Amino acid sequence: MSAHETSIGPISSQKSSKAGGAQSKCVTHLKGQCSLPGDKSISHRALMLGALAVGRTHITGLLEGEDVHATAAALSAMGVGIRRESPGQWVVDGVGVGALQTPDNILDMGNSGTSTRLLMGLVASQPIRCFFTGDGSLRKRPMNRVIAPLSQMGAVIESCGDGRLPLMITGSDSPMPIDYTLPVASAQVKSAILLAALNTPGTSIVREPKATRDHSERMLKAMGAQITVEENSTGNTGRIIRMTGEAELSPVDISVPGDISSAAFPLVAAAIRPGSQIRLKGVGINPLRAGILTALEQMGAPVTIENRREEGGEPVADLVMTGPERLKAVTLDPAIAPLMIDEFPVLFVAAACAQGSSRFTGLEELRVKESDRIAAMAAALSACDVAVEEVPDGLIVHGTGSPPLGGATVITHLDHRIAMSALVLGCASNRPVSIDDAAPITTSFPDFIPLMNALGTEISLL
Ligand code: S3P
Repeated sequence: MSAHETSIGPISSQKSSKAGGAQSKCVTHLKGQCSLPGDKSISHRALMLGALAVGRTHITGLLEGEDVHATAAALSAMGVGIRRESPGQWVVDGVGVGALQTPDNILDMGNSGTSTRLLMGLVASQPIRCFFTGDGSLRKRPMNRVIAPLSQMGAVIESCGDGRLPLMITGSDSPMPIDYTLPVASAQVKSAILLAALNTPGTSIVREPKATRDHSERMLKAMGAQITVEENSTGNTGRIIRMTGEAELSPVDISVPGDISSAAFPLVAAAIRPGSQIRLKGVGINPLRAGILTALEQMGAPVTIENRREEGGEPVADLVMTGPERLKAVTLDPAIAPLMIDEFPVLFVAAACAQGSSRFTGLEELRVKESDRIAAMAAALSACDVAVEEVPDGLIVHGTGSPPLGGATVITHLDHRIAMSALVLGCASNRPVSIDDAAPITTSFPDFIPLMNALGTEISLL
């Protein structure tokens, strides 16, 4: 067996599902309980940090979506032993910080920006060379945000276009620590620098003007890295993260909590169907991820948090949603954006079913996700007869309090969250809502359709 294979065969990042649409019909309410798939952000980090630890990391609850498979396949191609033991249970035999190998082929990261940007960080401070490419969505996404700091640390990065994939990165054999202020609130950029800093002598500093998800910091600390996190004394919500490199990471057992970004879909589906009652078990409620709970509360759909606990250094709870009689419109504070950046498409759906005009601004980052999510959702909602106004940094949604007309086929632009949001809209629309392509859903939530239907939705593949 070569280093690139596992006992279950080569790890592949190829999409398993064929392109084909799906349709969602109106239902009266949702009822029941379920567990969510593992958190995508934490799953990527568990594989990557496990790969750098000295010894064996056991992971339970790993998300088995296409994006995480892309990370596993890339690490495997760099000489890391990765094995799937049973559903969600994976074993990583780490090679130690600085000991990855040059892969013998181009790394195809599929749709996954997190895999690409974090792995670029991993490669940046080791004398290896990698070529990265991705699908039509990923090749449009900006990489300059990681190219800039990683180049300062000594990596040489050549991209084909203006800082987009495909690109080649040659890591440095004498990396330098940096003191870097993030120009955009991005946990991916922060994490790329921290991963590069692991194999860099001295102390690297990342200053974030607005705090973003801190899964990397928590996991690095648990594995013994010398990392400190200071709240920014200027009084805003930013942070300063300092990490001293040439670290040795110790393996830990990682239990991945349910993904709150995936939980947002059934939560909103229940919130827009009065009389619904659902319970989602074991969901991660890291305060830097849980903005959706605040937003739904402000719209008159509070989530009850039960059975709070800590698992693997992350706060976890069961979430209960009771569908209210009506949803209120909201003007959301832009400061909350980094705490729920992936949940806006489905929150726009909630706003479409609320009474009154909701205003969401400060969301320019949504234009450079898997698709331009402001434009994609503006088009989706308009096609379903919801009045919207697109602004450069956000969306205004004029809900009437009555069910949207629906009846359209939404273009998903290779974006899983657009696909799932449109199907949630169909749960409360007068006519069925279809999507042109259901395949992207497998990137983050392969069991979305059966799980939602078990709660009472009527979603089917076309
Ligand atoms: C992620 C960070 C966010 C988020 C993405 C996952 C991560 O991206 O949108 O889905 O795991 O660090 P940005 O860092 O671009 O905000």
